[in-house]
Amino acid sequence: MPLLPLAQEVCYTRAMTTPSKTSLAKIRNPIFCALDTADLGQATSWAAKLADTIGGVKLGLEFFNAQGPKGIKEVTRACELPLFLDLKFHDIPNTVAGAVKSVVPLKPAIINVHCSGGRVMMEAAAKAAREAAEQHLVDRPLVIGVTVLTSMDDAELNETGVPGTAFDQVRRLAELAKIAGLDGVVCSPHEAETLRKDLGPNFKLITPGVRPVWAAANDQKRIMTPSEALNAGADYVVIGRPITAAPDQTAAAKRIVLELAA
Ligand code: C5P
Repeated sequence: MPLLPLAQEVCYTRAMTTPSKTSLAKIRNPIFCALDTADLGQATSWAAKLADTIGGVKLGLEFFNAQGPKGIKEVTRACELPLFLDLKFHDIPNTVAGAVKSVVPLKPAIINVHCSGGRVMMEAAAKAAREAAEQHLVDRPLVIGVTVLTSMDDAELNETGVPGTAFDQVRRLAELAKIAGLDGVVCSPHEAETLRKDLGPNFKLITPGVRPVWAAANDQKRIMTPSEALNAGADYVVIGRPITAAPDQTAAAKRIVLELAA
């Protein structure tokens, strides 16, 4: 009688022996490049150019709503890097669980849900990711919570009926995410140090709002450099326009990697 159901046993063996190139176990460095475009040709071209330099790619709602699962597969085929599928699910538990099950066959390394959907919804997402990974014999994606969108300040948060500061709400939601069994949260680099202390060494922190000193801030308000964000406790940094809007995307990505190594 096997100790584990067969599918789970096979999955465990696969993960132990042959982590695929697109698994986080094989990630080259902590840089996920945000490929923010609706255009398939543009996304695959960036992905191919960056394949030998960055750690992973992030595709979000703009791309997914235009190109769907087929487009996601083409981009991951072009780079063979870990995928952060940033679709920020937010619905009732049953629907979020279904959405998670629908994307797991795309083999994302990371997926995310809104923490404000509540503990039961987050638990359903974590369970669905485990079950779908076992069913499809793929690595289980990290399920990450989105706390308070970094575009919101205290006043805007208060308008939604949540009193207090955005920072306090981030801490509250991140703790709830941990209780619900999520693997980590997306947060601003300025929140990373406190969340790392609050939630311990194994809870993953992913930070956008990251800018090398030589890049424009664009619409990001409270930024840190990639090394500052990692020193503050981030596990992975998400960087978009400093790479994608550069005249030479590969050179910009290499410059960031070298700065991190230094
Ligand atoms: O171009 P830039 O580096 O600003 O891109 C950051 C990426 O991270 C974008 O895809 C953006 O949607 C995403 N993001 C963010 N802030 C959050 C969550 C996601 O900037 N709080």
